[in-house]
Amino acid sequence: MSKAFSQMEQALEKAQKFSFSKENLNKIEGIKAKYPGDNSASALVEILLLAQKQNGGWLSPIALEVVAKTLGIPLMKVMEIAHFYPLFNVTPEGTYCVRICTTAPCWLKGSTELGRACQKWLGVGWEETTVDGMFSLKESACLGDCTKAPAIQINETLRGELTPQKITHLLQELADGDQK
Ligand code: FES
Repeated sequence: MSKAFSQMEQALEKAQKFSFSKENLNKIEGIKAKYPGDNSASALVEILLLAQKQNGGWLSPIALEVVAKTLGIPLMKVMEIAHFYPLFNVTPEGTYCVRICTTAPCWLKGSTELGRACQKWLGVGWEETTVDGMFSLKESACLGDCTKAPAIQINETLRGELTPQKITHLLQELADGDQK
């Protein structure tokens, strides 16, 4: 079975079931304690982040339902927040999520060319995932690494001072499994 196929199977499995781990349930109690009374909705963003991390980087419909039940708030409210903030993913991500900052400092230093190079090399547009499930490409607001513009983030790692040549080399290395 190919790695890509097995990753797709895992994503499908995650889309069909979700329940918080014991560790996360303990964390949720701590988060809820910070927002007592009728303020439990204020804990929503923190709890959605926990759910997303546990669910492999995205919020499936089941995960959203579980979050709503955990907080005792309407599912519609949870969906509104999950769809509003760019830090939440409501569709599965590739193994590598490539975020390119397109805010002014990075734009002035060539983020448009980086985006074009990635789209060409990956064969996908913004907010799309390659068919093998390996890469997702996302446009991002400031990543907080402006001094190294143009900056990108691959999963949790920030990288700066990139050129189209450097970024395609990096993508090739990731595809070859040389680094994470
Ligand atoms: Fe691109 Fe801040 S503007 S990282």
